[in-house]
Amino acid sequence: MIEQIHSPRALFEHTDALRMRGERIGLVPTMGALHAGHLSLIDAVRAAGATRIVVSIFVNPLQFGPNEDLAKYPRTFADDIAACEARGAHFIYCPAPDAMYPAGFQTHVEVEQLTTQHEGPVRPGHFRGVATVVTKLFNATGPCIAAFGRKDYQQLRTVQRMVRDLDLPVRVLECPTLRETDGLAMSSRNRYLSEEQRMHAAAIYRGLHAASLAFASGERDTETLLHLARTPIAAHTDSIDYVTVADSAALTPAGATAPASSVMLVAARLGATRLIDNCLLGEECLQERPLAS
Ligand code: PAJ
Repeated sequence: MIEQIHSPRALFEHTDALRMRGERIGLVPTMGALHAGHLSLIDAVRAAGATRIVVSIFVNPLQFGPNEDLAKYPRTFADDIAACEARGAHFIYCPAPDAMYPAGFQTHVEVEQLTTQHEGPVRPGHFRGVATVVTKLFNATGPCIAAFGRKDYQQLRTVQRMVRDLDLPVRVLECPTLRETDGLAMSSRNRYLSEEQRMHAAAIYRGLHAASLAFASGERDTETLLHLARTPIAAHTDSIDYVTVADSAALTPAGATAPASSVMLVAARLGATRLIDNCLLGEECLQERPLAS
């Protein structure tokens, strides 16, 4: 039976005993409502050499804005535990909010530049909440390996930057985005979509696919790439927060010519649901109908 651990101290004591025995701890940070994308991260830490795997399930209040979906964020705890166990994880770390943020909490981690654009302005405080909780999860777990999905591209780059800047002793694995058969990136928030919205949501992938294909054939004009992506996305979503081409490492928006290593980042809304997706142009999103795995 997979073991559940509820406090940072209890987790550290467990993993400390394991480290003493020479085990290599892998961490998969999540907010639960797990899908195949999350579960692929368990496989990734194992393949990278973790011998004991901790999956954290914590809906982190610090990374939600006042008008966001904290209260209604999907919670499917019993199913999540069963899925982690079936996938071979060893521990679930599921602290209560006041175990993570006791009265008087006042220390935060801020990654300054990478977080100023794209998701940053739309979600003030979001990345500070992510960087702070990920630091706390690292400290309580003491992993040598941790896996993050490219699905949350700006988050991944922010965590990588933080690990480098603060010399955190963790190897960060960058894991590919798992998609449904029509290309929609798997996301806990997809379950908010009505049947009709769900069909329209696949247009986000179609936009990324069109841009990625053009980039692979040599197109470097940023406006052309943006137009290719925006056309299907604008036709099938209620609003676009942004569609941007940026340098894949620094995340600075492209000028007139797309950089050799470009990422396209998208945030769009269907009704009250906000979806984000992205694609490394010319490297990903090249199949018209990607197969779910
Ligand atoms: P959450 O949205 O639950 O995602 C947990 C991890 O799963 C993240 O690294 C995310 O990028 C990855 N992931 C999500 N969808 C994926 C997909 N379709 N394919 C592959 N990986 C996918 O991201 C968070 O939680 C939180 O911000 C967290 C890092 C846990 C901090 O609270």
